[in-house]
Amino acid sequence: MEYFSFIIYIYIYMMKTESFPNQKSIMGSRGVLLLCLHGLLSLSHGQAINNHYFPESLKMGVANAAPQIEGAWNEGGKGETIWDRFAMTRPEMIIDRSTPEVACDSYHLWREDLHIIKGMGAQFYRLSIAWARILPNGYFSKDAVNPEGVKYYKTLLRELKKLNIEPMVTLYHWDLPQKLQDDLGGWLSPKTADIFAEYARLCFELFGDEVKWWITINEPKQVCEAGYGGGAFAPGIVQPGVGNYICAKNVLLAHAKAYRIYDKEFREKNQGKVAMVIDTPWFEPGSQSSEDVAAAERAVQFMYGLYGHPIYFGDWPQIVKDRVALRSRGEGLKHSRLPEFTPEEKKLINGTHDYLTINYYATHMANATGESPYTQRSFFDDMNIIEWINPAWPKGGPGWFSIWPTGLRKVLNWMKNTYGDHEIVITENGLSDNTGVIEDPHRIKYIRDHLSACLDAIYEDKVRLVGYMAWSFMDDWEWTGGYGSRIGMYHVDYNSPNKTRTRRASALYYRMVCNNRCLVDKCV
Ligand SMILES: *[C@@H]1O[C@H](CO)[C@@H](O)[C@H](O)[C@H]1NC(C)=O
Ligand SMILES: *[C@@H]1O[C@H](CO)[C@@H](O)[C@H](O)[C@H]1NC(C)=O
Ligand SMILES: *[C@@H]1O[C@H](CO)[C@@H](O)[C@H](O)[C@H]1NC(C)=O
Repeated sequence: MEYFSFIIYIYIYMMKTESFPNQKSIMGSRGVLLLCLHGLLSLSHGQAINNHYFPESLKMGVANAAPQIEGAWNEGGKGETIWDRFAMTRPEMIIDRSTPEVACDSYHLWREDLHIIKGMGAQFYRLSIAWARILPNGYFSKDAVNPEGVKYYKTLLRELKKLNIEPMVTLYHWDLPQKLQDDLGGWLSPKTADIFAEYARLCFELFGDEVKWWITINEPKQVCEAGYGGGAFAPGIVQPGVGNYICAKNVLLAHAKAYRIYDKEFREKNQGKVAMVIDTPWFEPGSQSSEDVAAAERAVQFMYGLYGHPIYFGDWPQIVKDRVALRSRGEGLKHSRLPEFTPEEKKLINGTHDYLTINYYATHMANATGESPYTQRSFFDDMNIIEWINPAWPKGGPGWFSIWPTGLRKVLNWMKNTYGDHEIVITENGLSDNTGVIEDPHRIKYIRDHLSACLDAIYEDKVRLVGYMAWSFMDDWEWTGGYGSRIGMYHVDYNSPNKTRTRRASALYYRMVCNNRCLVDKCV
């Protein structure tokens, strides 16, 4: 057994015998012992763990989303969503042929979940509102509002307040009401952006007093590229190199319209913040050749910049415009497949941010490559890189999950250098595996090393990181990854009638970190 595993082993043994009271401090004799082991843990690995305290400005929290935990897919007046339809009618697309019908049943068990979150010492809970619970068919009218759905979130938000946990609320976490897909083609229609804006206004009205941190759209890259380009995600539309960009434009319009509504009608009264949540892996160049370095930068621009650039600068990144135009010409098209923004649209979108966000899990490698034949077209041919996984780095669950904590520090710096010195929230970070084990030293190590990278970014690079939301406090329905992909600090037994939640070692570790605000034995 290597030294690190040995320390982790003792550590977990200690934690198993430690009680889990719902209180702030864990210091007792066992707590002290745990802390000592905690210190050893920080020395037991080649990489130096940052020994600074988390600054007060860095808020710690946990995150999840309605379609992944709530279940109750047709209860309480909720309408059908594109993910309900996709999983139920195209089971071959989901690795274990599962559906989100029941998930963790958090719709009924939310109170238990909030106490789990409180017990972890979280200051924030990032959750999402299911559009189809508030407006079952998506469309807004006074009569269309579902009182049961409104009551569910009102009660939950009131309980969060009692527990002194700050909510961070996502309005759209991929769960488009199916009716909007059927009527309009979903995000392929700019009308969906208008309808989203009305739903957003309704939520600002209903919940604006309780919620100060708003997120419009979560991970538009997944919504658009997987949903309307490659078709691996709901609604499964296959229009590579075309649908994804039309969708990208429409979700940006949706975000911007919601942001402007908040600005005009709610900001003065509610004093909240609004942002879009964007995800990307970090891309590390395969070599220091200028071609590979450019390939890595291009990849981040296609993944993050496609959404970040319009929000911060009012238009697509130049490299994306150039590449899609070049490919489109090669394919004999008169116009670029990338839709343009009108001057009014640029004005609408430009500057619609109150903070920067990043969902980060893994780092990929990027090499330059030649032009693929013009007979094929896709987002990936437009991006024009060879994407590969560094075999030297450890892996998480799915194939592309390649762990390199320095990548998080690098992406934070990239954001600061590209968009300016704004407040940044890490809205997701965590480790999935396919084992479901309760003793999860690999997850502890992942969290610790990534938080250490955050501290490096804060103290060494002066990145204004103000939030870290761990994904996730419990296992969930991981979309096409089904229930086998385990990503929680609590295990969920999907076979038990009560979807029993069982604490993993990482939950205790996270609680210790949230409470001590320090990753090593003694912080400075
Ligand atoms: C990427 O480039 C590096 C450096 O030239 C090389 O060692 C590596 O094999 C390349 N990887 C792929 C997948 O092409
Ligand atoms: C976006 O706004 C900034 C700041 O006002 C301005 O400098 C920039 O030219 C705008 N971008 C576009 C594309 O209009
Ligand atoms: C399930 O939960 C209910 C309500 O909390 C409880 O009465 C029941 O004993 C639980 N059943 C099991 C098997 O844990």
